[in-house]
Amino acid sequence: MQLAMVDDKIQPLEELGPAHLDRGIFFGDGVYEVICSYGGRIFALEEHLRRFAGSLVAIGITDVDIELIRSRVLNAFDAAAIADAKIYFHITRGSAPRNHAAPPNLKPNFFLTITEHQEDTEAKTNGIAVSTHPDWRWKRCDIKSLNLLPNVLARRDAAEKGCAEAILVDDAGMITEGASSAFFAILENTLQTAPLAANILPSITRDFVIKAAANAELQVVEKSFTPQQASAADELFIAFTTQDIVPVVKFDDKKIGDGKPGPHTGQLIQEFRTFTQQGL
Ligand code: PDD
Repeated sequence: MQLAMVDDKIQPLEELGPAHLDRGIFFGDGVYEVICSYGGRIFALEEHLRRFAGSLVAIGITDVDIELIRSRVLNAFDAAAIADAKIYFHITRGSAPRNHAAPPNLKPNFFLTITEHQEDTEAKTNGIAVSTHPDWRWKRCDIKSLNLLPNVLARRDAAEKGCAEAILVDDAGMITEGASSAFFAILENTLQTAPLAANILPSITRDFVIKAAANAELQVVEKSFTPQQASAADELFIAFTTQDIVPVVKFDDKKIGDGKPGPHTGQLIQEFRTFTQQGL
């Protein structure tokens, strides 16, 4: 008899529901997105759908209709009736007994949740502490893959140090990004962040920060920098969907500037608000 055991319950393997046999669980074999709404309007839906389509193609899931995903997201958003929502969804390659090689013609699984999303005013107002961690991830971080163990471990390490985010440092000693955020430094009138390449996620928030920088008269430099350079910056911040820009006031125990969120970061937060409030 082929059997499965779920906690203490033994049952025939054939009777397991598809959720237990999801390749997302066995292999992280899937991709995801996180989108936000502000005041009843979904922010940057098209940008997120485009990135999602790119992630699906990159892992060879080619039979998903993005129009269907758009309508599912919109239907769920209407049904939830949450004005400020965090919309999470993923697609995995499908469900089947564990085997690295997926059987042909597997039906992809779609899963979505919508929850309330609140601005972390404490973090926005006072800033957060971050700590560095080796970037242990794979070589295709541009794919928004469900494989997030290195990110989770880096964040655990940060939490143990009393920090809100881990900043990942590659083997060459350069900062790539945060465990779940893009990372930026401001020095004089320059805004610096790592260039888009296979070693970081093409963050949607990053794109809007770069747009906001033009309005804030900051020159943008897409060039990697080291933890030493980060500690010497005038201002630092992280950027990601749900909180957009969050000032960083402590980097590996080193106070940044006067230890309070800086004026450029404050201005970028204001500029970003005009994007989320006006809609796109
Ligand atoms: N994470 N880099 C990484 C590794 C991320 O996981 C994220 C976002 C970002 C920022 O991307 P965006 O601006 O498109 O949200 C950068 C999401 C929020 C998450 O995993 O929950």
